[in-house]
Amino acid sequence: MDDLRIKYLTLIADAGDESAIESLRVQAVGKKGEISLQMRELGRMTPEERQTAGPALNALKDEITSALVARKESLADAALDERLRSEWLDVTLPARTRRMGTIHPISQVTEEVTAIFADMGFAVAEGPQVDTDWYNFDALNIPGHHPARAEMDTFYMHRAEGDNRPPHVLRTHTSPVQIRHMEKHGAPCRIIAPGRVYRADYDQTHTPMFNQFEGLAIDRDISMANLKWVLEEFFAAFFEVDGIKTRFRASHFPFTEPSAEVDIQCSWVDGQLKIGEGDGWLEVLGSGMVHPHVLRSANVDPDQWQGFAFGMGIDRIAMLKYGMPDLRAFFDSDLRWLRHYGFASLDVPTLHGGLSR
Ligand code: PHE
Repeated sequence: MDDLRIKYLTLIADAGDESAIESLRVQAVGKKGEISLQMRELGRMTPEERQTAGPALNALKDEITSALVARKESLADAALDERLRSEWLDVTLPARTRRMGTIHPISQVTEEVTAIFADMGFAVAEGPQVDTDWYNFDALNIPGHHPARAEMDTFYMHRAEGDNRPPHVLRTHTSPVQIRHMEKHGAPCRIIAPGRVYRADYDQTHTPMFNQFEGLAIDRDISMANLKWVLEEFFAAFFEVDGIKTRFRASHFPFTEPSAEVDIQCSWVDGQLKIGEGDGWLEVLGSGMVHPHVLRSANVDPDQWQGFAFGMGIDRIAMLKYGMPDLRAFFDSDLRWLRHYGFASLDVPTLHGGLSR
């Protein structure tokens, strides 16, 4: 019995994998295994012999069985260790941002603007880029003969021959989203609406497609003072200068009354533009109190509700903040420009984490 014990314990210790363990199990304690056969011999023994041999054989069987189990476990552990070693991955290595590409300045600035206005309780609204002339013009108090239609250099979509309905337009501004949003959700409301707009125009600061964002806040007693505070909060956060000054100049838009164009404080030193200091001014947006006709077009009662709206060029404020001289480069898809002015793809702008880095 001792020989059997030593033989199997040695074989088990030497077994190199699970299948070797399994065949040893069959060979030792399987139905026709060596130890099992010995146990059958018990029947032929005298009762005295059986009294010592029986327990001894049982103990041997138990010992071999647990040695098999233990060896099997340690082989599995070793296999897992080996796998962990070969599949090891350093998750602290920096991501390969270059391969993932960069975030376009327009997407970056849109995110920045959205983060700042979200903090002031503005939701994001959207509208279609191809719209009817009713949403783009009429509902905004710009009737058919109005000179603003010509001023906007509108792109009209062709209708099929014989279709006499007015043509669709590529929206010339984000203002139609004011109407669509109020029509659907009514008052009060507080939204910004970023997106693409189109005008037939092309030079260093104009491209046929560009980006705006609309702001709209309607409630029972919203005033120009609220507009001024909201815009100054925005500029301070966006340009990262506290106490930036704004200048409101009387202006005219058909959809606001009164209307104001808004300038921000800047300086030019040695050909370098600095925002938020000095005594120069840069025009950045149009704004005003929403015209009663506009509220009425969107089924909002102007006797109960009032508020402000503004429209700002996203590309324009991106150029100012990040010092990009030519708007046309935004849409050239030149990889050298995108790598230079693009933003790391994992740096999502937030107010607490920093808008730009
Ligand atoms: N829609 C105007 C434009 O594109 C901007 C604007 C929006 C002005 C809202 C006033 C109020 O020029």
